[in-house]
Amino acid sequence: MQLSIQNLSKLYTNKTAINDLSINLTPGITGLLGPNGAGKSTFMKILAGIEQPSGGTVTWNGASLEEQINKYRKVLGYLPQDFGVYPNLTPIEFLQYIAALKGLDHRSSKKRIEGLLEQLNLHQDRKRPIGGFSGGMKQRVGIAQALLNDPSILIVDEPTVGLDPHERMKFRDIIQSLSEDRIVILSTHIVSDVESISDNIAILANGSLEAFKSPQFIIQSLEGKVWSGVIPSDSYQDYHRNYKISSSVQRSNGLHLRILSDQRPFPEANLVSANLEDAYLLYTGGYRK
Ligand SMILES: Nc1ncnc2c1ncn2[C@@H]1O[C@H](COP(=O)(O)OP(=O)(O)OP(=O)(O)O)[C@@H](O)[C@H]1O
Ligand SMILES: [Mg+2]
Repeated sequence: MQLSIQNLSKLYTNKTAINDLSINLTPGITGLLGPNGAGKSTFMKILAGIEQPSGGTVTWNGASLEEQINKYRKVLGYLPQDFGVYPNLTPIEFLQYIAALKGLDHRSSKKRIEGLLEQLNLHQDRKRPIGGFSGGMKQRVGIAQALLNDPSILIVDEPTVGLDPHERMKFRDIIQSLSEDRIVILSTHIVSDVESISDNIAILANGSLEAFKSPQFIIQSLEGKVWSGVIPSDSYQDYHRNYKISSSVQRSNGLHLRILSDQRPFPEANLVSANLEDAYLLYTGGYRK
């Protein structure tokens, strides 16, 4: 199975949201990272078949999405970023409604709904109106509806927003348990959401694909460029002007910086191991040499 995206572009009236993006998605988990406005949601909407590209093609197993949109929708699970719920429905009612819209068999979907409610820790609240749910609980209902048809292509746009650390961890487990023979694409701002579970990380910035590699490869490409050191607290602005700073923490002996730089930024700085946060910053922040 393959989703092949060639020279994709999306222009809104005064904005290029996607710019000549080509990528081949195969089974496994792709973590999509990028700052606000990078084009993640636009890209995912196009992949979900609900937004038309301005240029380029998306093909699924060799044929375009438009040609086989009904067949494609049957295997697709999609969680939009701005997922809305019907406040008066309970999770069971809502999921039954979505199952009916998706044309799923009533009896098997009943079982599936039970399982998903259990998996997503919503079982206790399955008969309460969703309107009274917390943000994280609503989000879990959204995740459940995306998984209803046991999709072979799962597109989830910021699925972990509003989830507490425990639920986030459970969500990662669910996604990981699914991934083997499916194409999963998951966008997030939280690097740790995708670092451990992604086969590949795609980094988008200004509508362009800046990197598409395994997390290990991405991190490797930064080895020898991440430095750590302590500076006087009042000199932050000087360093900020001249270097890309990955993190800064105030301690009693000064400001502890993590700096991305090809050269040692100051004599006392030590080379440290790179991580995915550093890479994200490098690819999205225009780091200076
Ligand atoms: N319907 C639209 N009409 C006009 N511009 C749009 C529309 N949708 C998105 N854009 C613009 O396209 C760019 C990409 O938006 P998009 O929502 O895809 O980014 P994103 O990476 O999902 O951001 P976020 O992290 O905030 O969710 C932004 O500049 C946005 O303002
Ligand atoms: Mg978005």
